[in-house]
Amino acid sequence: MIKVKVPATTANMGPGFDSIGMALSMYNIVYAEEIEQGFEIVIQQGSTQIPTDETNLIYTTIKHFYNNIRKPMPGVRIIQQDSIPHTRGLGSSAACIVAGLHIGNALSQSFFSKEELVQMAAQIEGHPDNTTPALLGGMTIGAMNANDMKYVKINVAENIHFAVMIPDFILSTELARSVLPKEVPLEDAVFNSSRAALLAASMITGDIDNLSLAMEDRLHEPYRAKLIPNMFEIINQAKCYGAKGAFLSGAGPTLIAVIKNVVAFRKEIAEYLNSLDDDWQVQMLQVDNEGAKVWINEELKY
Ligand code: HSE
Repeated sequence: MIKVKVPATTANMGPGFDSIGMALSMYNIVYAEEIEQGFEIVIQQGSTQIPTDETNLIYTTIKHFYNNIRKPMPGVRIIQQDSIPHTRGLGSSAACIVAGLHIGNALSQSFFSKEELVQMAAQIEGHPDNTTPALLGGMTIGAMNANDMKYVKINVAENIHFAVMIPDFILSTELARSVLPKEVPLEDAVFNSSRAALLAASMITGDIDNLSLAMEDRLHEPYRAKLIPNMFEIINQAKCYGAKGAFLSGAGPTLIAVIKNVVAFRKEIAEYLNSLDDDWQVQMLQVDNEGAKVWINEELKY
């Protein structure tokens, strides 16, 4: 039996659109084993919307993996225990891709390295900001061209807390990308490149007082705000309650605030969110600096 545990991820973190991402302490667990033929998909925990047919993303990723290594795919049973909510901007698709690659690697005994899986995952997703931290943990900064991806991983201090505010409505990445402009003013490009660089450098040095400025964005958040009621009001309110920085998680609609004083912040933000029309849940998470883990017959492989 193969067991894979994959963390949720937050992408962009404000200005790092399609480049910067970080793994969070929330997980999907997937079990897989070879069966005689065909496939079986069991959802033990998670949304009732998760497909159990051949469109299941873990299954299609395993199939893709076998196509790439030019071997016939064996029958497989997949059991999913999902905690990462779907279509909320917390990397649930990337988690499926990472689980599928690890399962394909283990089932076929291919022994691709994590580094090779990082490259494959980025190519499948098309941008590296969720799959890279899901595989490696920490915060990653990645850039890719047609056939290569270069990245740096930063271990994030575990005493920084992330207030993850998840609404009861969903937002598809496709819709959230469709509202973005094809071109932006030079001024906005400069605004973002300066902040993305400051964000990466500040996370290395631990200068978290820079984050309020370093997590600002002009490439996607202003456009996506139209799809997320009260988005900037919540971000600004979080800063009033002491958040060091706050941003839209991935394509949204989840919002994340970086905080130090967990108890006071949680109470104040929960009261504020309760006053809004939509239902928002707050979860206090930390970074996951290790990334996905794989067990084969209960032995931890990596
Ligand atoms: N960087 C991506 C986006 C993350 O913001 O659209 C979601 O796939």
